[in-house]
Amino acid sequence: MAGVVKPLVEDLIAAGELRRSLQRDVRKGMLAGHKMLPPVWFYDEVGSALFDEITRLPEYYLTRAERALLVEHAARIADLSGATSLVELGAGTCEKTRLLLDPLWDKGILASYVPLDVSAVTLQQAAFLLAQEYEGLLVHALIGDFRRHLGKVPKSPNQMFAFLGSTIGNLSTHDRAGFFSDLAAVMKPGDTFLLGADLVKDPKKLVRAYDDVAGVTARFNLNVLNVLNRELGANFDPSYFEHVAVWNEEESRIEMHLRATQAQAVEISSLGINVHFETGEALLTETSAKFTSEGIQAELARAGLGVDWWWKSDESEYMLLLAARS
Ligand code: SAH
Ligand code: TRP
Repeated sequence: MAGVVKPLVEDLIAAGELRRSLQRDVRKGMLAGHKMLPPVWFYDEVGSALFDEITRLPEYYLTRAERALLVEHAARIADLSGATSLVELGAGTCEKTRLLLDPLWDKGILASYVPLDVSAVTLQQAAFLLAQEYEGLLVHALIGDFRRHLGKVPKSPNQMFAFLGSTIGNLSTHDRAGFFSDLAAVMKPGDTFLLGADLVKDPKKLVRAYDDVAGVTARFNLNVLNVLNRELGANFDPSYFEHVAVWNEEESRIEMHLRATQAQAVEISSLGINVHFETGEALLTETSAKFTSEGIQAELARAGLGVDWWWKSDESEYMLLLAARS
């Protein structure tokens, strides 16, 4: 077909590697004293579609607050960064990305957009659409893991790395430190890092954002059991688990659990293990850290990233930070 511009899609994950790391994570997490799973496994096709639904929920203020900040400040961010390349980590559907791409594109300096995500199907669809919309822009999609593949991102001058959606909050404090210093190590002078971070607020509002009335977040959380059933031949019955979101004040984070509503044994056949759950036992599936402006800036500073500019949303719900190597 004439006029169809295709994105470049590069898979950084070797065949079989994804399954091996899923197996490792699940074995470790299920045999731990407090059972847990890393959140990266939520995002199969169904999970990505459910997350997209979450971003439109009335209770989920994060996406709206971040979008409003981008609408207001993207032009300034484009000027400050002078980016010739936008690298987006955990890009997902690239919904809000257009708000950043537009002012960069209008300046006439943007050469490439590099979205990186583990969710291959979602990434490919989004990359395809963007390649159509921005004719002449190189869309170079990377199927990969932002915890491991930062070194594989192609380099260009004045790169802007964007990490939106408060996905940073889904990493543990320890992993965040590692992530920030890995990122600082690949950033060159002149590169910038745009980070979206959700802020500490009334716990009731926080819990509502992760336990919506329509039950979409519950479906998203429970879907991870379907992923384990399909990928590892497990026999979880999702109807024996319920979604729970709690605020952990001490750790300053929302925790999402799947709580067993009855005692049960689950077989995970490809791992050759049986996992026992007691009634009421919780499987920790996600943590979402909430920050203060000072706290997140201190974390960035420890990795050698200095915050030159930041913007808070109207009700101080959410913030965007623009950092550079100090
Ligand atoms: N940036 C989008 C999507 C946020 S949802 C927004 O702001 O709405 C989080 C995204 O990060 C999902 O698309 C998920 O597939 C991706 N993701 C989660 N863990 C990842 C990892 N370790 N490496 C790469 N992508 C990851
Ligand atoms: N980065 C998002 C957040 O922490 C991810 C997210 C939103 C999420 N809702 C969720 C993850 C529900 C798991 C379950 O807000």
